[in-house]
Amino acid sequence: MTEVDITADGPSKGEFRDVMGRFASGVTVITTRIDGEDLGAAASAVSSLSDEPPSLLICLNVTSTTAQAIVKTGAFAVNVLAEDSAPIAQRFASKAPDKFASIAFERGRTGAPLISGSIAHFECVVDETVRGGTHYVFLARVVNVASTPGNPLAYFRGSFGRMETAPDAAALHAVRDYVVGTVSDVAVPLDAESIAAELEIEVGRSYQALVALVGEGLVRRTGATFEVEPVPDQVIFDYYAAKLAIEIGAAAQTVGSLDTEQLAELRRLLEVTLAHSVDGQFGDPAGWIRANAAFHEYLVSLAGSTILMETYKGLRLPAMEQRSISQSTRATGQLHEDHRTIVEGYEAGDVELVLRTLTAHARRPQETRAAAASAS
Ligand SMILES: Cc1cc2nc3c(=O)[nH]c(=O)nc-3n(C[C@H](O)[C@H](O)[C@H](O)COP(=O)(O)O)c2cc1C
Repeated sequence: MTEVDITADGPSKGEFRDVMGRFASGVTVITTRIDGEDLGAAASAVSSLSDEPPSLLICLNVTSTTAQAIVKTGAFAVNVLAEDSAPIAQRFASKAPDKFASIAFERGRTGAPLISGSIAHFECVVDETVRGGTHYVFLARVVNVASTPGNPLAYFRGSFGRMETAPDAAALHAVRDYVVGTVSDVAVPLDAESIAAELEIEVGRSYQALVALVGEGLVRRTGATFEVEPVPDQVIFDYYAAKLAIEIGAAAQTVGSLDTEQLAELRRLLEVTLAHSVDGQFGDPAGWIRANAAFHEYLVSLAGSTILMETYKGLRLPAMEQRSISQSTRATGQLHEDHRTIVEGYEAGDVELVLRTLTAHARRPQETRAAAASAS
Protein backbone atom coordinates (compact mmCIF):
# COMPACT_ATOMS: atom_id res chain seq x y z
CA MET A 1 0.00 0.00 0.00
CA THR A 2 1.26 3.48 -0.82
CA GLU A 3 2.23 5.48 2.24
CA VAL A 4 0.63 8.93 2.25
CA ASP A 5 1.35 11.47 4.97
CA ILE A 6 -2.20 12.58 5.75
CA THR A 7 -0.99 14.92 8.44
CA ALA A 8 0.72 17.09 5.80
CA ASP A 9 -1.23 20.21 4.74
CA GLY A 10 -4.00 19.31 2.32
CA PRO A 11 -5.87 21.81 0.17
CA SER A 12 -7.76 24.58 1.91
CA LYS A 13 -11.56 24.53 1.78
CA GLY A 14 -11.50 27.26 -0.90
CA GLU A 15 -8.88 25.46 -2.97
CA PHE A 16 -10.76 22.17 -2.72
CA ARG A 17 -14.04 23.82 -3.81
CA ASP A 18 -12.35 25.61 -6.67
CA VAL A 19 -10.73 22.46 -8.02
CA MET A 20 -13.84 20.35 -7.38
CA GLY A 21 -15.83 22.96 -9.35
CA ARG A 22 -14.05 21.78 -12.47
CA PHE A 23 -16.06 18.59 -12.28
CA ALA A 24 -19.11 19.54 -14.39
CA SER A 25 -22.40 18.16 -13.16
CA GLY A 26 -26.12 18.33 -13.74
CA VAL A 27 -28.41 20.01 -11.23
CA THR A 28 -31.23 18.35 -9.33
CA VAL A 29 -33.77 19.36 -6.74
CA ILE A 30 -34.14 16.82 -3.93
CA THR A 31 -37.70 16.92 -2.60
CA THR A 32 -39.54 15.31 0.27
CA ARG A 33 -42.81 15.79 2.13
CA ILE A 34 -43.11 15.85 5.89
CA ASP A 35 -46.12 16.67 8.13
CA GLY A 36 -48.01 18.10 5.16
CA GLU A 37 -45.11 20.37 4.16
CA ASP A 38 -43.10 20.15 0.93
CA LEU A 39 -39.35 20.69 1.19
CA GLY A 40 -36.63 20.81 -1.43
CA ALA A 41 -32.95 21.61 -1.93
CA ALA A 42 -30.86 22.10 -5.06
CA ALA A 43 -28.20 19.40 -5.22
CA SER A 44 -25.48 18.33 -7.58
CA ALA A 45 -24.04 15.62 -5.33
CA VAL A 46 -26.12 12.84 -6.86
CA SER A 47 -24.70 9.63 -8.23
CA SER A 48 -25.86 6.32 -9.56
CA LEU A 49 -24.91 3.56 -7.10
CA SER A 50 -25.94 0.21 -8.53
CA ASP A 51 -28.23 -1.30 -11.15
CA GLU A 52 -29.31 -4.30 -9.11
CA PRO A 53 -31.21 -3.26 -7.19
CA PRO A 54 -31.53 0.15 -8.88
CA SER A 55 -30.09 2.57 -6.37
CA LEU A 56 -28.47 5.96 -6.13
CA LEU A 57 -26.88 8.17 -3.53
CA ILE A 58 -27.21 11.83 -2.66
CA CYS A 59 -25.12 13.99 -0.32
CA LEU A 60 -26.83 16.76 1.63
CA ASN A 61 -25.42 19.03 4.30
CA VAL A 62 -26.62 18.11 7.79
CA THR A 63 -27.82 21.72 8.15
CA SER A 64 -30.17 21.31 5.18
CA THR A 65 -33.81 21.35 6.26
CA THR A 66 -34.56 18.93 3.44
CA ALA A 67 -31.84 16.53 4.63
CA GLN A 68 -33.17 16.62 8.20
CA ALA A 69 -36.66 15.82 6.91
CA ILE A 70 -35.35 12.92 4.78
CA VAL A 71 -33.75 11.43 7.92
CA LYS A 72 -37.31 11.23 9.29
CA THR A 73 -39.35 10.41 6.16
CA GLY A 74 -36.88 7.94 4.68
CA ALA A 75 -38.04 8.92 1.20
CA PHE A 76 -37.25 11.55 -1.39
CA ALA A 77 -37.43 12.37 -5.10
CA VAL A 78 -34.61 13.51 -7.37
CA ASN A 79 -35.78 16.01 -10.01
CA VAL A 80 -33.22 16.46 -12.81
CA LEU A 81 -33.56 20.05 -13.98
CA ALA A 82 -33.86 21.07 -17.64
CA GLU A 83 -31.49 23.63 -19.13
CA ASP A 84 -33.98 26.51 -18.79
CA SER A 85 -34.51 25.85 -15.08
CA ALA A 86 -31.69 27.87 -13.51
CA PRO A 87 -34.30 30.05 -11.70
CA ILE A 88 -35.74 26.89 -10.11
CA ALA A 89 -32.25 25.80 -9.03
CA GLN A 90 -31.61 29.20 -7.46
CA ARG A 91 -34.89 29.15 -5.63
CA PHE A 92 -34.19 25.70 -4.15
CA ALA A 93 -30.64 26.70 -3.26
CA SER A 94 -32.12 29.39 -1.00
CA LYS A 95 -33.66 29.17 2.45
CA ALA A 96 -36.92 30.78 1.27
CA PRO A 97 -39.84 29.71 3.50
CA ASP A 98 -42.15 28.47 0.73
CA LYS A 99 -39.98 27.35 -2.15
CA PHE A 100 -42.89 25.60 -3.88
CA ALA A 101 -45.01 28.74 -4.33
CA SER A 102 -45.63 29.11 -8.09
CA ILE A 103 -43.71 25.88 -8.84
CA ALA A 104 -45.79 23.35 -10.80
CA PHE A 105 -45.46 19.78 -9.57
CA GLU A 106 -47.22 16.46 -9.23
CA ARG A 107 -47.09 14.21 -6.24
CA GLY A 108 -45.10 11.01 -6.53
CA ARG A 109 -45.66 7.61 -4.94
CA THR A 110 -43.73 8.51 -1.81
CA GLY A 111 -45.58 11.83 -1.47
CA ALA A 112 -42.49 13.80 -2.56
CA PRO A 113 -43.15 16.54 -5.14
CA LEU A 114 -42.15 15.78 -8.75
CA ILE A 115 -41.32 19.17 -10.29
CA SER A 116 -42.91 19.71 -13.73
CA GLY A 117 -40.55 20.44 -16.59
CA SER A 118 -37.78 18.29 -15.11
CA ILE A 119 -36.17 15.99 -17.67
CA ALA A 120 -36.10 13.06 -15.22
CA HIS A 121 -37.51 12.00 -11.87
CA PHE A 122 -36.27 9.29 -9.53
CA GLU A 123 -38.45 8.36 -6.56
CA CYS A 124 -36.39 6.81 -3.80
CA VAL A 125 -36.63 5.10 -0.45
CA VAL A 126 -33.59 5.41 1.87
CA ASP A 127 -31.71 2.12 2.52
CA GLU A 128 -28.88 3.51 4.59
CA THR A 129 -27.71 6.88 5.90
CA VAL A 130 -24.00 7.51 6.38
CA ARG A 131 -22.40 10.58 7.90
CA GLY A 132 -19.43 11.96 5.90
CA GLY A 133 -17.84 15.19 7.14
CA THR A 134 -20.51 17.91 7.07
CA HIS A 135 -22.90 15.80 5.00
CA TYR A 136 -25.38 12.98 5.17
CA VAL A 137 -24.96 10.44 2.40
CA PHE A 138 -28.32 8.83 1.67
CA LEU A 139 -28.03 5.48 -0.10
CA ALA A 140 -31.44 4.82 -1.56
CA ARG A 141 -33.47 2.31 -3.54
CA VAL A 142 -35.09 3.74 -6.68
CA VAL A 143 -38.77 2.76 -6.72
CA ASN A 144 -39.97 4.72 -9.73
CA VAL A 145 -38.46 6.65 -12.66
CA ALA A 146 -39.75 8.88 -15.46
CA SER A 147 -38.06 10.97 -18.15
CA THR A 148 -38.89 13.38 -20.97
CA PRO A 149 -36.68 14.64 -23.82
CA GLY A 150 -34.62 17.72 -23.14
CA ASN A 151 -31.15 18.92 -22.27
CA PRO A 152 -30.02 19.13 -18.66
CA LEU A 153 -29.10 22.23 -16.73
CA ALA A 154 -25.34 22.08 -16.15
CA TYR A 155 -23.24 23.42 -13.28
CA PHE A 156 -19.56 24.19 -13.76
CA ARG A 157 -17.21 26.33 -11.67
CA GLY A 158 -20.09 27.96 -9.81
CA SER A 159 -22.11 28.89 -12.90
CA PHE A 160 -25.12 27.42 -14.64
CA GLY A 161 -24.80 26.46 -18.28
CA ARG A 162 -25.90 24.14 -21.01
CA MET A 163 -24.70 20.64 -21.68
CA GLU A 164 -25.18 19.47 -25.24
CA THR A 165 -24.19 16.12 -26.65
CA ALA A 166 -22.84 15.88 -30.18
CA PRO A 167 -25.84 15.04 -32.39
CA ASP A 168 -26.04 11.71 -34.13
CA ALA A 169 -24.92 12.42 -37.73
CA ALA A 170 -27.70 10.43 -39.43
CA ALA A 171 -30.40 12.00 -37.24
CA LEU A 172 -28.99 15.47 -37.86
CA HIS A 173 -29.04 14.87 -41.58
CA ALA A 174 -32.63 13.57 -41.52
CA VAL A 175 -33.92 16.40 -39.33
CA ARG A 176 -32.11 19.03 -41.42
CA ASP A 177 -33.67 17.62 -44.59
CA TYR A 178 -37.04 17.55 -42.87
CA VAL A 179 -36.77 21.16 -41.74
CA VAL A 180 -35.45 22.36 -45.08
CA GLY A 181 -37.59 20.28 -47.37
CA THR A 182 -40.87 19.67 -45.58
CA VAL A 183 -41.71 22.47 -43.20
CA SER A 184 -43.74 24.93 -45.20
CA ASP A 185 -44.59 27.59 -42.64
CA VAL A 186 -41.92 29.42 -40.66
CA ALA A 187 -44.37 30.14 -37.83
CA VAL A 188 -45.27 26.51 -37.08
CA PRO A 189 -43.42 25.18 -34.01
CA LEU A 190 -40.98 22.34 -34.64
CA ASP A 191 -41.64 19.76 -32.00
CA ALA A 192 -39.01 17.09 -31.30
CA GLU A 193 -41.60 14.40 -30.59
CA SER A 194 -43.61 14.75 -33.79
CA ILE A 195 -40.44 15.03 -35.90
CA ALA A 196 -39.12 11.85 -34.23
CA ALA A 197 -42.38 10.02 -34.99
CA GLU A 198 -42.35 11.24 -38.60
CA LEU A 199 -38.72 10.25 -39.20
CA GLU A 200 -38.84 7.12 -37.03
CA ILE A 201 -35.89 8.17 -34.88
CA GLU A 202 -35.51 8.52 -31.12
CA VAL A 203 -36.97 11.67 -29.61
CA GLY A 204 -33.69 12.47 -27.88
CA ARG A 205 -31.91 12.38 -31.23
CA SER A 206 -34.41 14.64 -32.97
CA TYR A 207 -34.13 17.07 -30.04
CA GLN A 208 -30.32 17.09 -30.22
CA ALA A 209 -30.50 17.60 -33.98
CA LEU A 210 -32.81 20.61 -33.52
CA VAL A 211 -30.35 22.05 -31.00
CA ALA A 212 -27.55 21.60 -33.56
CA LEU A 213 -29.66 23.31 -36.23
CA VAL A 214 -29.95 26.33 -33.92
CA GLY A 215 -26.14 26.51 -34.19
CA GLU A 216 -26.43 26.38 -37.98
CA GLY A 217 -28.87 29.31 -37.91
CA LEU A 218 -31.57 27.19 -39.52
CA VAL A 219 -33.97 27.11 -36.58
CA ARG A 220 -34.37 29.13 -33.41
CA ARG A 221 -35.58 28.36 -29.94
CA THR A 222 -38.94 29.63 -28.83
CA GLY A 223 -39.11 28.63 -25.16
CA ALA A 224 -39.23 24.86 -25.00
CA THR A 225 -39.82 24.37 -28.73
CA PHE A 226 -38.18 25.48 -31.95
CA GLU A 227 -39.24 27.23 -35.12
CA VAL A 228 -37.69 27.87 -38.51
CA GLU A 229 -35.45 30.93 -38.40
CA PRO A 230 -36.44 33.68 -40.86
CA VAL A 231 -33.50 35.23 -42.74
CA PRO A 232 -32.86 38.99 -43.01
CA ASP A 233 -33.48 40.33 -46.54
CA GLN A 234 -29.88 41.50 -46.95
CA VAL A 235 -28.61 37.98 -46.31
CA ILE A 236 -31.05 36.60 -48.89
CA PHE A 237 -29.81 39.08 -51.51
CA ASP A 238 -26.24 38.11 -50.72
CA TYR A 239 -27.04 34.43 -51.30
CA TYR A 240 -28.59 35.30 -54.65
CA ALA A 241 -25.52 37.30 -55.66
CA ALA A 242 -23.31 34.24 -55.03
CA LYS A 243 -25.75 31.96 -56.83
CA LEU A 244 -25.81 34.30 -59.83
CA ALA A 245 -22.02 34.43 -60.10
CA ILE A 246 -21.85 30.63 -60.30
CA GLU A 247 -24.77 30.28 -62.72
CA ILE A 248 -23.34 32.94 -65.05
CA GLY A 249 -20.00 31.16 -65.12
CA ALA A 250 -21.66 27.82 -65.87
CA ALA A 251 -23.95 29.32 -68.55
CA ALA A 252 -21.11 31.19 -70.28
CA GLN A 253 -19.33 27.85 -70.66
CA THR A 254 -22.27 25.72 -71.74
CA VAL A 255 -24.90 27.66 -73.72
CA GLY A 256 -24.69 26.52 -77.35
CA SER A 257 -23.03 23.21 -76.58
CA LEU A 258 -25.88 21.15 -75.07
CA ASP A 259 -27.09 18.00 -76.80
CA THR A 260 -30.77 17.21 -77.37
CA GLU A 261 -31.03 15.01 -74.28
CA GLN A 262 -29.67 17.75 -72.05
CA LEU A 263 -32.05 20.30 -73.57
CA ALA A 264 -34.98 17.88 -73.10
CA GLU A 265 -34.03 17.41 -69.43
CA LEU A 266 -33.85 21.17 -68.96
CA ARG A 267 -37.35 21.59 -70.42
CA ARG A 268 -38.68 18.76 -68.23
CA LEU A 269 -37.27 20.42 -65.09
CA LEU A 270 -38.83 23.72 -66.22
CA GLU A 271 -42.28 22.10 -66.47
CA VAL A 272 -41.94 20.75 -62.91
CA THR A 273 -41.29 24.25 -61.53
CA LEU A 274 -44.32 25.67 -63.38
CA ALA A 275 -46.62 23.24 -61.58
CA HIS A 276 -45.91 24.76 -58.17
CA SER A 277 -47.54 28.15 -58.27
CA VAL A 278 -51.25 28.60 -57.63
CA ASP A 279 -52.88 31.93 -58.50
CA GLY A 280 -49.63 33.85 -58.29
CA GLN A 281 -48.73 32.45 -54.85
CA PHE A 282 -46.53 29.58 -53.74
CA GLY A 283 -49.38 27.14 -53.09
CA ASP A 284 -46.81 24.52 -52.17
CA PRO A 285 -43.63 26.35 -51.09
CA ALA A 286 -41.64 23.20 -50.29
CA GLY A 287 -42.50 21.68 -53.68
CA TRP A 288 -41.53 24.88 -55.45
CA ILE A 289 -38.23 25.10 -53.56
CA ARG A 290 -37.31 21.54 -54.51
CA ALA A 291 -38.31 21.93 -58.17
CA ASN A 292 -36.58 25.30 -58.46
CA ALA A 293 -33.41 23.91 -56.87
CA ALA A 294 -33.41 20.93 -59.27
CA PHE A 295 -33.77 23.28 -62.26
CA HIS A 296 -30.98 25.63 -61.20
CA GLU A 297 -28.65 22.84 -60.05
CA TYR A 298 -29.02 21.22 -63.43
CA LEU A 299 -27.82 24.44 -65.13
CA VAL A 300 -24.72 24.40 -62.93
CA SER A 301 -24.12 20.65 -63.33
CA LEU A 302 -23.88 21.14 -67.12
CA ALA A 303 -20.48 22.79 -66.54
CA GLY A 304 -19.25 19.31 -65.58
CA SER A 305 -17.28 20.36 -62.51
CA THR A 306 -17.90 18.45 -59.30
CA ILE A 307 -16.18 21.13 -57.26
CA LEU A 308 -18.30 23.90 -58.75
CA MET A 309 -21.40 21.82 -58.08
CA GLU A 310 -20.39 21.20 -54.45
CA THR A 311 -19.73 24.89 -53.98
CA TYR A 312 -23.15 25.72 -55.39
CA LYS A 313 -24.88 23.13 -53.20
CA GLY A 314 -22.85 24.37 -50.24
CA LEU A 315 -24.78 27.65 -50.50
CA ARG A 316 -27.74 25.64 -49.21
CA LEU A 317 -30.15 27.76 -51.19
CA PRO A 318 -33.12 25.47 -50.50
CA ALA A 319 -32.49 25.93 -46.75
CA MET A 320 -32.34 29.69 -47.14
CA GLU A 321 -35.44 29.76 -49.32
CA GLN A 322 -37.25 27.50 -46.90
CA ARG A 323 -36.79 30.19 -44.31
CA SER A 324 -37.68 33.10 -46.55
CA ILE A 325 -40.59 31.80 -48.63
CA SER A 326 -43.93 31.06 -47.06
CA GLN A 327 -47.30 30.26 -48.52
CA SER A 328 -48.24 33.92 -48.47
CA THR A 329 -45.11 35.02 -50.39
CA ARG A 330 -46.17 36.11 -53.85
CA ALA A 331 -44.63 34.03 -56.60
CA THR A 332 -44.36 36.58 -59.33
CA GLY A 333 -45.36 35.15 -62.70
CA GLN A 334 -42.10 36.76 -63.75
CA LEU A 335 -40.15 33.91 -62.10
CA HIS A 336 -41.84 31.44 -64.41
CA GLU A 337 -41.32 33.70 -67.42
CA ASP A 338 -37.62 33.91 -66.54
CA HIS A 339 -37.33 30.12 -66.38
CA ARG A 340 -39.02 29.82 -69.76
CA THR A 341 -36.73 32.46 -71.32
CA ILE A 342 -33.63 30.82 -69.83
CA VAL A 343 -34.59 27.48 -71.39
CA GLU A 344 -35.38 29.17 -74.71
CA GLY A 345 -31.97 30.87 -74.57
CA TYR A 346 -30.24 27.51 -74.01
CA GLU A 347 -32.26 25.98 -76.86
CA ALA A 348 -31.36 28.84 -79.23
CA GLY A 349 -27.71 28.91 -78.09
CA ASP A 350 -28.24 32.60 -77.22
CA VAL A 351 -25.68 33.24 -74.50
CA GLU A 352 -26.52 36.96 -74.18
CA LEU A 353 -30.19 36.19 -73.56
CA VAL A 354 -29.39 33.56 -70.94
CA LEU A 355 -26.92 35.77 -69.03
CA ARG A 356 -29.29 38.76 -69.11
CA THR A 357 -32.24 36.65 -67.90
CA LEU A 358 -30.25 34.87 -65.16
CA THR A 359 -29.18 38.31 -63.89
CA ALA A 360 -32.72 39.69 -63.89
CA HIS A 361 -33.98 36.44 -62.33
CA ALA A 362 -31.56 36.65 -59.39
CA ARG A 363 -32.87 40.15 -58.64
CA ARG A 364 -36.55 39.16 -58.47
CA PRO A 365 -36.53 38.58 -54.68
CA GLN A 366 -35.32 42.16 -54.26
CA GLU A 367 -38.09 43.43 -56.56
CA THR A 368 -40.76 41.34 -54.84
CA ARG A 369 -39.76 42.68 -51.43
CA ALA A 370 -39.55 46.27 -52.64
CA ALA A 371 -43.03 45.94 -54.17
CA ALA A 372 -44.41 44.39 -50.97
CA ALA A 373 -42.84 47.18 -48.87
CA SER A 374 -44.31 49.96 -51.03
CA ALA A 375 -47.74 48.26 -51.06
CA SER A 376 -47.91 48.06 -47.24
C1 LIG B 1 -26.00 24.02 -8.22
C2 LIG B 1 -26.14 23.75 -6.77
C3 LIG B 1 -25.83 22.51 -6.27
C4 LIG B 1 -25.93 22.25 -4.92
N1 LIG B 1 -25.65 20.99 -4.48
C5 LIG B 1 -25.77 20.70 -3.17
C6 LIG B 1 -25.51 19.38 -2.72
O1 LIG B 1 -25.20 18.48 -3.50
N2 LIG B 1 -25.63 19.14 -1.39
C7 LIG B 1 -25.99 20.12 -0.50
O2 LIG B 1 -26.09 19.82 0.70
N3 LIG B 1 -26.26 21.37 -0.91
C8 LIG B 1 -26.18 21.69 -2.22
N4 LIG B 1 -26.47 22.94 -2.66
C9 LIG B 1 -26.88 23.96 -1.67
C10 LIG B 1 -28.33 23.77 -1.19
O3 LIG B 1 -29.23 23.79 -2.28
C11 LIG B 1 -28.67 24.90 -0.21
O4 LIG B 1 -27.87 24.77 0.92
C12 LIG B 1 -30.15 24.98 0.19
O5 LIG B 1 -30.36 26.21 0.84
C13 LIG B 1 -30.60 23.89 1.14
O6 LIG B 1 -31.97 24.12 1.38
P1 LIG B 1 -32.73 23.51 2.62
O7 LIG B 1 -31.99 23.88 3.88
O8 LIG B 1 -34.11 24.14 2.57
O9 LIG B 1 -32.80 22.03 2.44
C14 LIG B 1 -26.37 23.25 -4.01
C15 LIG B 1 -26.68 24.51 -4.51
C16 LIG B 1 -26.56 24.76 -5.86
C17 LIG B 1 -26.89 26.13 -6.40
